[in-house]
Amino acid sequence: MCGIVGYVGQEAACPILLEGLSRLEYRGYDSAGVAVCAGAGEGLSVHKAKGRLQVLSELLQGGAAVQGEVGIGHTRWATHGAPSDVNSHPQVSQSRRIAVVHNGIIENYVELRAFLMEKGVPFVSETDTEVVAQLIEYFYAGDLLAAVDQALHRIRGTYALGILCADCPDQLVAVRKDNPLILGWGEGCNFIASDVTAILRHTREVSYMNDGDIAVLSWEGIQCYNHLMQPIAKERVHVDWEVDAAEKGGYPHFMFKEILEQPQALRRCISPRVRDGAVYFEDFCLSPEEIRAVQKIYIVACGSSYHVGMVGKYQLEKLTRVPVEVALASEFRYMEPIVDEHTLVLIISQSGETLDSMAALREARKRGAKILSIVNVVGSSIARESDQVLYTWAGPEIAVATTKGYSTQLVLVLLLAVYLGRTLDRVSEEESRALLEELVRLPDKMEAVLAGRDHIQYLASQSFHHSSIFFLGRNLDYAMGLEGSLKLKEISYIHSEAYASGELKHGTISLIEEGTLVVAVGTYGPLFEKAMSNIIEVKARGANVLALTTESHVDRMAAVASAVIPIPDTHDLLLPSLGIVPLQLFAYYVALMRGCDIDKPRNLAKSVTVE
Ligand code: M6R
Repeated sequence: MCGIVGYVGQEAACPILLEGLSRLEYRGYDSAGVAVCAGAGEGLSVHKAKGRLQVLSELLQGGAAVQGEVGIGHTRWATHGAPSDVNSHPQVSQSRRIAVVHNGIIENYVELRAFLMEKGVPFVSETDTEVVAQLIEYFYAGDLLAAVDQALHRIRGTYALGILCADCPDQLVAVRKDNPLILGWGEGCNFIASDVTAILRHTREVSYMNDGDIAVLSWEGIQCYNHLMQPIAKERVHVDWEVDAAEKGGYPHFMFKEILEQPQALRRCISPRVRDGAVYFEDFCLSPEEIRAVQKIYIVACGSSYHVGMVGKYQLEKLTRVPVEVALASEFRYMEPIVDEHTLVLIISQSGETLDSMAALREARKRGAKILSIVNVVGSSIARESDQVLYTWAGPEIAVATTKGYSTQLVLVLLLAVYLGRTLDRVSEEESRALLEELVRLPDKMEAVLAGRDHIQYLASQSFHHSSIFFLGRNLDYAMGLEGSLKLKEISYIHSEAYASGELKHGTISLIEEGTLVVAVGTYGPLFEKAMSNIIEVKARGANVLALTTESHVDRMAAVASAVIPIPDTHDLLLPSLGIVPLQLFAYYVALMRGCDIDKPRNLAKSVTVE
């Protein structure tokens, strides 16, 4: 959840650290800090500030106020200890010789803290991270690496760590366990970062650290060790993401830019995989015999990725006739899931680093399942631990509220459903060809939806004052409503719930009163009549209904709803891909009108790497 960046080179470190942190701020934004080695015998220069990175940056004059060529930086999402200057990272040891930035949770920090306090070590913060700095110093006897190794043997939990020692002013040590950390290979300089976007301006050559890896960086090179402290060679990977892709490029918010980027992201995701009316996945991990042996598909994910799974269940079951279960990753590993070697587990994660999804993956593997994942971030932990990864190729997604991540995941699940359905012979060639032809047209249709955004902005201007908004829908429309509702609540802070329309009369309808705003999702042709009936029911109780439907149903919908949002007609299974766009825009404009911090909503972070 926090962002780490580290630099060792021959230029002033602080401006580079601050610039890197500005690209990681989406990972956590309640405080920030840097530590820089001021030079041999000069000690560490540590600066921290509660609040956005801007506060720290102004304090340090954009980095000009701090001398030194080796440093670490951190942007925090608080877990232990409220956001404050003292709880910000870097955390330092009592002599200020050791400084540490940390992403993750030290589970036995209470015990370690008591142990160190007994030895007379004073603590100043409420963080779990301070014990790491103090413990390294406790073991330090002139050899930093040995002290880090000893400390790691005492620590339980999850961590990505960047460590500086005043006695080794041209070195930086990095460690990883269950939290992302990459190494960047530059010219006369080297880097660590939570995410490649932080160092993209300086290098595109990276190595992904594995759990247990320890790296020692100097400006001349990087030496890596495994958990047994044996030297290891790391594979270098070239990253071809555009630097611009991680910048706002004149748009007011990343979220808005990313909503508008969706047609292009979809083209990148679809076109290499669809040829001659068929779906192609390179080196698919399951042979046709293995696919035929699959008795159940389990989709496991969190948040919006889970909502993709809710749509995916309908798509996969319809096209494969294999039973599909969808589980929240945070629940999966505690529910003794019925998973075995005949289960295909599909993990969906934009970041590829969500801790709950990662834990679910490992649980499923332990039970013998094959693991397929749908991931956006290349080289992320989930991607690397899966039997097969299908990349969404959406490009970097910076806004905390996912948009292009969600829509590319959605089409990838559909492609998977077609692929499996054809292999199992549950979908005819003709049916698959027609569906894929329509899928190829989807980005253009999405562009048409985006072009109508002024209408959505107008509807948002009529709705932003509501304190509670309900989303209703059935089947695919319900799954879409779940995502529309999450988008709205996470960025606008309006209470919002999505209900399967048929459930209304089992309780929820008692909440509908004069003026309640209901967003009715009624795009799915086979259930359109039922959607209409539910709209009439809530209207009769005073609801103000915004209805989302397809162009061919607009007239009938307009007769009952207060306002209609049309989307182009398309194949039933593709409706969520078009329908979600107005709902994203609606959430965006409502949040804008309420003056919310759209890209960095309160209490959230982009990549949820704690349980
Ligand atoms: O990176 P992941 O797809 O694993 O993330 C899962 C959720 O944390 C994420 O979708 C979250 O719900 C978003 N903020 C939704 O916009």
